[in-house]
Amino acid sequence: MRGSFTYCNPTKLYFGKNALQKLAGELEKYGPTVQLIYGGGSIKKNGIYDQVVEVLKDCGKTIVEDGGVMPNPTVEKLHEGVEIARKNNVDLLLAVGGGSCCDYAKAVSVSVHCDEEPWDKYYIRFEEPDCEIMPVGCVLTMVGTGSEMNGGAVITNHETKQKIGHVFGTDVMPKFTVLNPMFTMSLPHYQMVAGIYDIFNHICEQYFSGADDNTSDYLSEGLMRSVVHSSRIANVDPEDYEARSNLMWSATWALNTLLTKGKTTDWMVHMLGQAVGAHTDATHGMTLAAVSLPYYRYLIHTAGAACVEKFARFAKKVWDVPAEGRSGEELALAGLKAMEDWMKELGLVMNTTELGASEGMIEGIADSTIILQGGYKVLTKDEVIDILKASL
Ligand code: NZQ
Ligand code: ZN
Repeated sequence: MRGSFTYCNPTKLYFGKNALQKLAGELEKYGPTVQLIYGGGSIKKNGIYDQVVEVLKDCGKTIVEDGGVMPNPTVEKLHEGVEIARKNNVDLLLAVGGGSCCDYAKAVSVSVHCDEEPWDKYYIRFEEPDCEIMPVGCVLTMVGTGSEMNGGAVITNHETKQKIGHVFGTDVMPKFTVLNPMFTMSLPHYQMVAGIYDIFNHICEQYFSGADDNTSDYLSEGLMRSVVHSSRIANVDPEDYEARSNLMWSATWALNTLLTKGKTTDWMVHMLGQAVGAHTDATHGMTLAAVSLPYYRYLIHTAGAACVEKFARFAKKVWDVPAEGRSGEELALAGLKAMEDWMKELGLVMNTTELGASEGMIEGIADSTIILQGGYKVLTKDEVIDILKASL
């Protein structure tokens, strides 16, 4: 490893079937008014809402409701949340839901005491907060994003057709998160597998870069093997607690700031996927699944020796593809074929057409794609268009 860095992760995690019991101890640390953030109603159906409200009431908290956070939260909803927090003089933002609720809570947290327009400040100019940041806590109900232990907050602007993530620093990361795998059991299969691919791709984004010998890459290989193993069990038996609990823990470690340390990182699958999401509002993990293979195959064919070597290592270490009798490129492509077979086994969406994209939208999606520099190749806009066409 050649990089230099500071490492600190301040989020306290409570993991397991009884993790919610620890919520009361955390609530004591904050003032009386809690903004209870949740999505479209799943927590009311599966009973998690009642359990959380009971703890809040037992702790004597005033609950300010902030439901209706949509998947891929919008800038309009962000404005609404900021108004709720300001009007009620809120002390803590408690997100109960998936990555959308957690991300939204973080975006509200940096905007409540900010006089500027948050979209322009954080998502266009990428400035850091220079105001008081409201504390955030999470009770996670969907596994995938890692939002429970990171500073990421992705917001969608339908008007400008942009879906942009700002990765904030440690001050914005959740103060605590409750991780109870049982809370994820009511997820529909579609969301469960989308979340599984999101976990896997977060690891890929941090693995497919660099030519140095880096401890992170060995950690990544172990995590990827665990995700593949547990996903196969959960796909057949979604109620297998051990598999769901391993997936929950892997998701947190896949994107909680550890793997990225000391490395450059790619994140182009996410940039392509988020651009598709900005135009279709499709499920995050599915957008990633739909663009991954065309992008990775393109890299293997064009990005040079270090790239081919890494994909060949991926084939051997993650998918147990035998190296004998194969050239580096053949081995690299065989690894991707193994990944493709696994993706199909899970039932992931393998093309963007199924997500609502069409040939006529490609130019616009390419315009919405932010091109990053940390992977094996810096794409041109024409290359982005070719990859997007191949993903239809
Ligand atoms: O809205 P509700 O009713 O809660 O339903 C949700 C939603 O429809 C449902 N769901 C969640 N938990 C459930 C459940 N349904 C039944 N039982 C449960 N236990 O699942 C649907 C999707 O939820 P959502 O929170 O949107 O999914 P996810 O966790 O995948 O979050 C997606 C958002 O996170 C961003 C994505 O771009 C997207 O906006 N990301 C955040 C990242 C970060 N903070 O670092 C990184 C990621 O790469 C990602 O970009
Ligand atoms: Zn993701």
